[in-house]
Amino acid sequence: MIIVVMGVSGSGKTTIGKLLAAKLSLPFFDADDFHPDFNVKKMASGIPLDDLDRQPWLEKLAQHIIDWEQHKGAVLACSALKEKYRQILGSNKKINWIYLDGNKDLIGNRMQARLGHYMKAGLLDSQFEALEIPSYGIHAPIERDPQSIIQHILQALNIHQNLSEIGILGMGVMGKSLALNCAEKGIKTAIYNRHVPGKEEKIAQNVVKDNPQMRHLIPFDELQVFLHNLEVPRKILLMIPAGEAVDQQIQQLIPFLEDGDVIIDGGNSHYEDSSRRAAFLEKNGLRFVAMGVSGGEEGARKGPSMMPGGDREAVKGLLPIFEKIAAKNTNGEPCVAYIGPEGSGHFVKMVHNSIEYGEMQLLAEVYGLMRYYFAMHPPQIAEILEQWLNQGESSYLLEITIDIMRTKEGQEYLLDKILDQAAQKGTGGWSVEAALKHAVPYGPLVEAVMARIISSQKSNRLALSNLYGIQKPKGDFDYSELLEDLKNAYRTVRILNHEIGFSLIKQASDDHKWSLDLAKIAGIWTNGCIIRSDLMMKLSTLLDENSYILEMDDYVSLLRSDHKSLGKVISASINAGVAIPVMSAAFQYFLGRVTASSSANLIQAQRDYFGAHTYQRVDKGPDEYFHTEWKKSGD
Ligand code: 6PG
Repeated sequence: MIIVVMGVSGSGKTTIGKLLAAKLSLPFFDADDFHPDFNVKKMASGIPLDDLDRQPWLEKLAQHIIDWEQHKGAVLACSALKEKYRQILGSNKKINWIYLDGNKDLIGNRMQARLGHYMKAGLLDSQFEALEIPSYGIHAPIERDPQSIIQHILQALNIHQNLSEIGILGMGVMGKSLALNCAEKGIKTAIYNRHVPGKEEKIAQNVVKDNPQMRHLIPFDELQVFLHNLEVPRKILLMIPAGEAVDQQIQQLIPFLEDGDVIIDGGNSHYEDSSRRAAFLEKNGLRFVAMGVSGGEEGARKGPSMMPGGDREAVKGLLPIFEKIAAKNTNGEPCVAYIGPEGSGHFVKMVHNSIEYGEMQLLAEVYGLMRYYFAMHPPQIAEILEQWLNQGESSYLLEITIDIMRTKEGQEYLLDKILDQAAQKGTGGWSVEAALKHAVPYGPLVEAVMARIISSQKSNRLALSNLYGIQKPKGDFDYSELLEDLKNAYRTVRILNHEIGFSLIKQASDDHKWSLDLAKIAGIWTNGCIIRSDLMMKLSTLLDENSYILEMDDYVSLLRSDHKSLGKVISASINAGVAIPVMSAAFQYFLGRVTASSSANLIQAQRDYFGAHTYQRVDKGPDEYFHTEWKKSGD
């Protein structure tokens, strides 16, 4: 299909031509780019072209039109004011003419608004003098906004719009993988990546070029055109870095969106930012969905676990798409569901990551003990972990750890080559803040964050290790009994890590009145996400009846016996000088939670001693507070 958008200067040929090209997935060309050098020089020196000058230019364009027609087709913006010019370009059978129809006042005013001044005196007059309005083609009145003009043209061309069901903005690893996942599931997906000269060029186009089999992907690098290609209400999934970039992107989108359009933030945004954005967008007539997405690159590509929260109606409209691309649980149901209002989707993802940090650090501690205390080699460790995996401790993180243990680089194990400095992007720390805010005991998961921080201070650790000379243990002892304890300890800490994470979700849900469904959340986490495991599968049923994991019959009997194994592992590790912060904190957490009479009576006494903060008494009622003049009574 060849379309020529024609009209006087300032009538909007480039804007309309580009939008039309994008709608129809055709390349766009501007006739001015095809002038021979001679014409360019002449125009640059301010001399108007005559018909003799135009002849070779128009003939060249006619030749291109023949070529374009034989390939994909094209949209050409060309003033083509006179009938004889149009004759040179080609027959009316071949070309669909679109005449942009506006009067001199309208165009003059628009030019003034755009350029801040009127066109050079006489230029617009001369354009209108030269104009021979075609008696054929589509006459598109230009009083309306570009989108309505496009609708008018498409209707006149009798073209059904081929709009996309969803638009994904940001073609980083996660955005691209989700886009390919959508396209593979037959979802018509518009993809957009910003154009940054020299840095980010043709990113979306290259995704399509690299995946020619993905017929449902349509690439854009012009925001407005991308948005015009989405079904209304538009669904725009932001896959960009969390933080300020999200606010900036939302600001850029707002002027082009209409009431009811939906913005989805699929990044790891802070839940308070998401609650703020939800309220802000609602005021602007737009819908906002804050969605946690877990599973990394592979998950996004093949089936992630998805936690959409915010506008319930908007999520309802999105679920048919998300259910197609999400991972499936063992019953074949998609690992995606509406989480709750405001930023709760991102809150839940943040806690997911906090458990992820805890589970990763726990595995690192298990590995550290086996490698340095038991002096086992990575493949031996892999073998033991594989046994655990097959004995009911299966999890994605355990699986990948086993793979990592077996990965070699030449003759050596790759793991031995990796610098022991853990990085982080913040979600673990945000959970710690949230735990403080909601007064939820969070020790082991706090320690997982702190362990990363300590690990990152490598040079300081090196200096201090020389100063203190703590030696690595030798491993020359029979560790078989301790190995069994280690397995039980691992199982115990995992239960506690999950207990702590779900407690935070429960407390935040109560405090914010979010009504979050813990069993449903665990269900979403049974596949696709990083913390999927056998344990999570059990929790997805058990949490339906009881929100408190420490009270569940299955775990009460297990923890009653296994916490002793944890104690043995901790004391052996401490004696050997091996740091195991998450295991130790988990044990303290457990003891703290299950101890009826604590030593906090002393804390209260101290507070009252130096600050007259008062205390309650075991032999008095709960509303009675006492103060003692300690010095005097001690005399
Ligand atoms: C997931 C991951 C994912 C990402 C983390 C890593 O669920 O798919 O959690 O979101 O890998 O952001 O976080 P750190 O860089 O903080 O370890």
